[in-house]
Amino acid sequence: ILRMTDLDLRGKRVLIREDLNVPIKDGRITASQRLEAALPTIRHARDAGAAVMVTSHLGRPVEGQFSEADSLAPVAAWLSQALGSEVKLLRDYLDGVEVENGQVVLLENCRMNVGEGKDTPELSAKYAALCDIYVMDAFGTAHRAQASTHGAIRAAKVACGGPLLMAELDALAKALDNPRRPLLAIVAGSKVSTKLELLQTLTAKVDQLIVGGGIANTFIAAAGYPVGKSLVENDLLDTARRIIAEAKARGADVPIPSDVVVAPAFAADAPATIKRVDEVTADDMILDIGPQTAAAYAALIAKAGSVVWNGPVGVFEFDAFGKGTQTLALAIAESAAFSIAGGGDTLAAVEKYGVEDRIGYISTGGGAFLEFLEGKELPAVTALQARG
Ligand code: 3PG
Repeated sequence: ILRMTDLDLRGKRVLIREDLNVPIKDGRITASQRLEAALPTIRHARDAGAAVMVTSHLGRPVEGQFSEADSLAPVAAWLSQALGSEVKLLRDYLDGVEVENGQVVLLENCRMNVGEGKDTPELSAKYAALCDIYVMDAFGTAHRAQASTHGAIRAAKVACGGPLLMAELDALAKALDNPRRPLLAIVAGSKVSTKLELLQTLTAKVDQLIVGGGIANTFIAAAGYPVGKSLVENDLLDTARRIIAEAKARGADVPIPSDVVVAPAFAADAPATIKRVDEVTADDMILDIGPQTAAAYAALIAKAGSVVWNGPVGVFEFDAFGKGTQTLALAIAESAAFSIAGGGDTLAAVEKYGVEDRIGYISTGGGAFLEFLEGKELPAVTALQARG
């Protein structure tokens, strides 16, 4: 893949596709990691003397209609502040943009443009015509084949990978392609069904697969233990057993928690009780792994060569059920392993437990991170590779 950092950008019109899809509540940005991550790329292009246009989607607006709720206006304000000069937000830009060298403008939500979602060549051609160099930097959107990603890469005079995209791909390759072993993965979240492909792909690669959250409940039930009222997918018990057997067959391990934290209800103030995994009763809901399990997993993390983390192992939004996730977050932070974390809930946990500076790499991808881990092709990356 051609890298933006290898190109001379001076005096060039550069269109950078970022993923600035951040949560916004009452006009305020509530998590700015994606903006922080995109900033060095934008700054680099500006300081190199390019005329910089930045494009991104936000949410999922209806094409062909302007919607205030999906406007990038708060993002333009954030960027203006961060860059120390006004970043204008342009509404009508498809037929041409006025921008000076050393200046940055933001193009309004690309998903308001007709044809974006369907990757129509007419729209990609318009994006391509705006610039001399198109930079794909939106790792978080690399799994979407849309006009401003995949289509624009194919249509642009010159298309390259931005520093953020390349850093994401390099970190993922480091953790997965030829990892320092043991390779340990934590896959957690509410449902096996939404992470089935991920579990299957990782089972074939890792040395230890730690499951957590509702996913762990299904594995606990599959191992023959009672799970009471816990969230569990009874139709996937055989699948869980097969994953465990496949891992064992190649000498890998999928440990089952030895203790859990239970409560009578899913609530922040529900009384938390630690129980051995074989002591769970009909009225219990499993909401976290227990301290003995967390310590055992932390010991595995301490000995790991690489750690891939996706998903909190308990209901960490409620403090009483966050200790398992906290213990693992701190173990990852303290481990000498190369670690990579990704996914919306995981990032919230990383932030809550204050370990963001001690994780090897924090991905800005949600769906894209998962699809990469699942071994799927990311259309935008494939398109960049095809251009050489
Ligand atoms: C994300 O938040 O995962 C990306 O920005 C992609 O958003 P999408 O799922 O709406 O395509």
